[in-house]
Amino acid sequence: MELKIALLAGDGIGPEVVAQAVKVCDAIANKFNHNIQWMPALTGAAAIDAVGDPYPEETHAVCEAADAVLFGAIGDPRFDNNPAAKVRPEQGLLRMRQKLGLFANVRPTFTFPSLLEKSPLKRERIEGTDLVFIRELTGGIYFGERGRKDDGNTAFDTCTYTREEIQRLAKMGFELAQKRQKKLCCVDKANVLESSRLWRETVQAMEADYHDVEVSYEFVDAVAMRLVQWPNSYDVLITENLFGDILTDEASVISGSMGLMPSASVGSKTALFEPIHGSFPQAGGKNIANPLATVLSSAMMFEMAFNLKEEGALIREVVQQSLAEGIVTEDLVEGDAKAYKTSEVGDYLAKKVAG
Ligand code: IPM
Ligand code: MN
Repeated sequence: MELKIALLAGDGIGPEVVAQAVKVCDAIANKFNHNIQWMPALTGAAAIDAVGDPYPEETHAVCEAADAVLFGAIGDPRFDNNPAAKVRPEQGLLRMRQKLGLFANVRPTFTFPSLLEKSPLKRERIEGTDLVFIRELTGGIYFGERGRKDDGNTAFDTCTYTREEIQRLAKMGFELAQKRQKKLCCVDKANVLESSRLWRETVQAMEADYHDVEVSYEFVDAVAMRLVQWPNSYDVLITENLFGDILTDEASVISGSMGLMPSASVGSKTALFEPIHGSFPQAGGKNIANPLATVLSSAMMFEMAFNLKEEGALIREVVQQSLAEGIVTEDLVEGDAKAYKTSEVGDYLAKKVAG
């Protein structure tokens, strides 16, 4: 199969972790007789430095022409501590999501048998956890009207949702639940927010079309609590943009390292795959970052963008092997065992794929 993949390495550790996923994908392509055409393009601070825009038109054109996008991370401390900065790397990410129509962010949380002790939570609480958040990604408070008034002394951000935006996200949630444990949790704050009441009303009206799915409605504050108490009680969760941003960071620690969790952003056009960790600038260029979240994101890419299940499964399998054999970066090292470099983990995985 011909696979055209836009490659957006981005900032910080982005280029290093993406390079390992490329090695693994190339090994997969070799083994399964695919032909990958990598299409590199600039984003984030790297793009601001080069052309003054964190998501340049040329990059958007590359993403639109590709079948899928593999993305590293964006963000740079030079912009974080400067509230006056006119352009920020994050604006590029938001614009990219909006322009590519990536309205749903799929973030799984699962545990690895060999890493149960790495989690800050007790083993018996997390064992068997396998849940998926579907976060709405192009609406809500991230994209609502915002501004200042009263000479700059009052600020506001608005959360707006349409029934249609909620329906298309909920549809994905119902359909995914049907393929899994058939449990769907709608996370909202319907005891306070009107937009949440519309979420609840809309999802309730859809229940009749999905008789086999058991739906629960929970307030976001309660979910924040139950997520660390009984994460294995959840299956699929759907929620609006900001709640999803916060809860998926919380969920990511369950597995033991943020460096492990992949994600997919899907929508009407092309799909984008990225690790959920950020650009981790302190580690940039040191060859110490954990590449597994990006490698696992590439597994999601084979499965979801190209419907190549066997390829995705093999990537997951070699990742399990690297964990079981301790071929891991320093964030996952036990005691005084050896920490492997980012590139060494990538080499190991590619070699295992080649078999
Ligand atoms: C994420 C990030 C982004 C978000 C930032 C970088 C704009 O935290 O992908 O979760 O808030 O959506
Ligand atoms: Mn986030």
